[in-house]
Amino acid sequence: MTYAAITGWGKSMPPAVLANADLATFLDTNDEWITSRTGISERRISHVPLSELAYVSAMRALAAAGLNASELDLIVVGSCSYDDQVPNQASGLQARLGARNAASMDVNTACTSFLYSLSCANAFIRTGVVKRALVIGGEIITTFMDWQNRGVAVLFGDGCAAVVLEATDREEGLLAEKLGCDSDARGTLVVEGMGARYANMGRMLGSTNWIFEGPEIFKRAVIGMSGACADVLAARSITADDIDLVVPHQANQRIIEAVAKRAGVPMDRGYVNVHRYGNMSAGTVPVALVEALDEGRVKPNATLLMPAFGAGLTWCAHLVRWGERVTPKDTTDVELPPCDKTALELVRIAMRAKGIQL
Ligand code: COA
Repeated sequence: MTYAAITGWGKSMPPAVLANADLATFLDTNDEWITSRTGISERRISHVPLSELAYVSAMRALAAAGLNASELDLIVVGSCSYDDQVPNQASGLQARLGARNAASMDVNTACTSFLYSLSCANAFIRTGVVKRALVIGGEIITTFMDWQNRGVAVLFGDGCAAVVLEATDREEGLLAEKLGCDSDARGTLVVEGMGARYANMGRMLGSTNWIFEGPEIFKRAVIGMSGACADVLAARSITADDIDLVVPHQANQRIIEAVAKRAGVPMDRGYVNVHRYGNMSAGTVPVALVEALDEGRVKPNATLLMPAFGAGLTWCAHLVRWGERVTPKDTTDVELPPCDKTALELVRIAMRAKGIQL
């Protein structure tokens, strides 16, 4: 039997930090509300497009795996904030990396895009179609943010990370997954202005209006993720006691706590970084995974549970068995271009481009 081990990992975080206090300079909000309702203290605002974050993440993940880009057979980029629709993001990454042997595809399921992409790459490897794959989860969601809407502007941030998968005979990597979609609630999270149909309505691409029913999404996220967690545990005939670490989608501290409680895993076995980055959509799970590894929270042969939800409303949970190696084989000195603006300046520039003075 062939499995798809995770052998490389790397993240790329934009340096500009937007604190809750910065948001309060142009929105009717405050640090106390944001931290108590969401757990978020700050988030990153990217000065570069997704292609840059994806490239640096990919280079770091390849170094960690000890692989050359030419050895990749597949690149999957999970996101909803691509630089371009045509040609796709993955082909741009193939060109930049020199991964000339890699098939290249994008997957958009909003915040669950990384885990859905992991499922795709895992299936390609386990069925023998490819041997080595690069999977990216990343988002430049702040480009599409309506910074005048305090109901959403405080929740999101930018970030990206990547993993490398390699075929192995050892029983490791993704061992079970459950994916689903509550399309009856797809109207609870809609970013008007992010799709082609708005061009015919005279709306500038990127000039968005968020329809966002927070409490309803909250409720459905908890139900969807905890149900999916129960399903993957049952699929492997294991219990919450067998989970070494939960690496969940990071949208809201209270959602993470509710899912962990329902799954029966105490929070000391949960990885949380939502306070540092907010909701990075497709970037949350891979960035959390990379940071958990960097902090020594992932032990050799650990069993990881990764639940997520996103617009659609898509939901999923993935059960991963880690391998022996929890340290990178190698590192790279590739870095993002320097940023000479503050996060607040980047937000103001983005809004000015849409004709709005904050
Ligand atoms: N600052 C201050 N007050 C705010 C605010 C902000 N940024 N945003 C909303 N409020 C106000 C509301 O206007 C409301 O005021 P009212 O009672 O006078 O009407 C009050 O705070 C409570 O709003 P409510 O929406 O009920 O709060 P909540 O406790 O449900 O928390 C969310 C809101 C969005 C944080 C929460 O519902 C959530 O996290 N939902 C999940 C959303 C999500 O993660 N989506 C991403 C999908 S991947």
